[in-house]
Amino acid sequence: MSAAWAVELRGLGKRYRLPRRGREWLKPWRPRRHQEALAGVDLAVAPGELVALLGPNGAGKTTLLKILAGLVSADAGEARVHGADVARDPELGRARVGYVLTDERSFFWRLTVRDNLRFFAGLEGLFGAEAAARVEYTARLLGLGELLDRRFNALSAGQKQRVALARGLLADPPVLVFDEVTRALDPGRAEQVRRLVRELIVERQGRAVLFATHDLAEARAIADRVVLLSGGKVACEGPFDAVEAEVRAVFRAEAEAEEGALSAILQEAR
Ligand SMILES: Nc1ncnc2c1ncn2[C@@H]1O[C@H](COP(=O)(O)OP(=O)(O)OP(=O)(O)O)[C@@H](O)[C@H]1O
Ligand SMILES: [Mg+2]
Repeated sequence: MSAAWAVELRGLGKRYRLPRRGREWLKPWRPRRHQEALAGVDLAVAPGELVALLGPNGAGKTTLLKILAGLVSADAGEARVHGADVARDPELGRARVGYVLTDERSFFWRLTVRDNLRFFAGLEGLFGAEAAARVEYTARLLGLGELLDRRFNALSAGQKQRVALARGLLADPPVLVFDEVTRALDPGRAEQVRRLVRELIVERQGRAVLFATHDLAEARAIADRVVLLSGGKVACEGPFDAVEAEVRAVFRAEAEAEEGALSAILQEAR
């Protein structure tokens, strides 16, 4: 085990407990059903390296990123960040790993963008002039200048997404994980976000990044290496061009598994 890795996962496992349903309530002694999300993942990311995390819906990408960021508990294996196991110490994960997602539900819809970002800066321990400077800086990074004084609810979907990105970049951790952050962005702005992550965060600042995406062209453009998760396991990894065929085959097989049901519905609808 070497602390030279920024991120090092070993045998990482996670099973979610599913809620009881229907008649299961009548037999509480029966073991609860589980959904296995990660089934022993091994993966390492070096400082200054950008790894794209690919995988079909439900493959375990978000679960993996959330365990690293100390937001979900693991139940097997290790998740080391610069040597320390955040699976054992989620508090450390929250301090060392920035989880950048573009979920706008936690924003205050009637406050301005600036007041929202000031609030979230406070949660990161930033106050006063330091918080103000950091908010202005991240707003500039994401081209939010003229939006800072608008109320959050008056923004478009893509604008909200950029504010959510800014929120994720307020703190300054050595490892950043991005969960489908370009999903609602127009092509030009998606490209700006990719450059921001690639050129500033990875190349200039030398941080380690895990970047989950469904967009294969995006993965090719941005990543040093891609890792394909499937059914909670690493199916393959390597430079994009080396694993592209295998990645496409896994996505195709996943879609084909559901093809039968769709064909039946289309047949009925004739
Ligand atoms: N809170 C939860 N309770 C129960 N099961 C969950 C929970 N969160 C995720 N799962 C299950 O764990 C598995 C992995 O989910 P996860 O969200 O990590 O996948 P993902 O790769 O991020 O998928 P997507 O591409 O759709 O975002 C799925 O089968 C999912 O249904
Ligand atoms: Mg996900």
